[in-house]
Amino acid sequence: MTDAAARATAGFRSAYGAEPAGRWAAPGRVNLIGEHTDYNDGFVLPFALPLRTVAATAPQQGERWTVRSELSDAPVEFGAAEVDEPGRVTGWVAYVAGVVWALREAGHAVPGARIAIASDVPVGSGLSSSAAIEAAVLAALVDLGGLDLPTERQPRLAQRAENSYVGAPTGIMDQSAVIRCREGHALFLDCRDESVEHIPFDLDAAGLAVLVVDSRAPHRHADGEYAARRTSCERAAERLGVPALRDVAVADLDDALGRLDDETRRRVRHVVTEDQRVLDTVALLRASRVREIGPLLTASHVSMRDDFEITVPEIDTAVEAALAAGALGARMTGGGFGGCVLALVEADRASAVAEVVTQAYAEKGFAAPATVPVLPAPGATRLD
Ligand code: GLA
Repeated sequence: MTDAAARATAGFRSAYGAEPAGRWAAPGRVNLIGEHTDYNDGFVLPFALPLRTVAATAPQQGERWTVRSELSDAPVEFGAAEVDEPGRVTGWVAYVAGVVWALREAGHAVPGARIAIASDVPVGSGLSSSAAIEAAVLAALVDLGGLDLPTERQPRLAQRAENSYVGAPTGIMDQSAVIRCREGHALFLDCRDESVEHIPFDLDAAGLAVLVVDSRAPHRHADGEYAARRTSCERAAERLGVPALRDVAVADLDDALGRLDDETRRRVRHVVTEDQRVLDTVALLRASRVREIGPLLTASHVSMRDDFEITVPEIDTAVEAALAAGALGARMTGGGFGGCVLALVEADRASAVAEVVTQAYAEKGFAAPATVPVLPAPGATRLD
């Protein structure tokens, strides 16, 4: 199969019988560490994947948007009236309509457009395929309309599309990652003020690889459980009298935990210690001590499994098998209840680790996982 860029162009030609004015790409992401910290005003450290979504786009007259994707047979069209009423455009097209809506809400004169989307980011694997669509379309509309929306302000707008138009209460990590990441770097993001630092993450130089294992586990109640975790964190912050859990220092953790019920205590302990693990990981990477981050990754997983309770058997199996096969660290990445695991491995052990994980799945009767080694890739960009 050709890559997403070629397929987007082919899709544009076949849907509209014309050439696109340009192509804009946005990647999927994995999060190296810092899970469920973003909506607690905390820290995250994602990097962009070499898999991407491409929007071949050309302007069209009037306030009309026509979208064709590999996910549906015929192009879908919507106008200003449908866009301005969240809920009227549904399904995957809502990610596109949500971006148009959020831009219009922010006062931008959004150009009408014809769009053809193709993607190499698997849908439903927790690799931010939705943020990739939002970011690719946003980049296209900003460029074609000459809109005044600098890159650093784009994640908040794309998040608004997802939160208020699509209706998913996510934080700012995914949109920031797919828009702001740089090749060869992880993105150290402070989710409170959205300041970033690009941290060199040179796996090759360290003789290491990151193996991504798609657990292929069906997402079980992911939306409801995600929202429940978020509410529980917000209530805990209120109870502790802080603006967000980010404001609870590790040193004050014991004292804070004493004022909470058992379940909330575990949720808070995850978030507060996870923020610290992000800071510790960044410190090690800054010092080029890449292989030493392994135990932090694994500790993050244990915390998600036991305290935040967002892992599932397939995910835990992948982590345990990777570690047993010699991974330096392994953890679930993303919102949870399915999705992917990442394992930090010696480069020459990557396929052996993948094999052990696959074997462990077979022994438990789970559907075979997909495994792929990845390197940090660039964020959203115009291709041509
Ligand atoms: C999902 C959300 C993000 C973040 C992660 C968990 O990917 O979209 O905002 O909360 O879960 O870290």
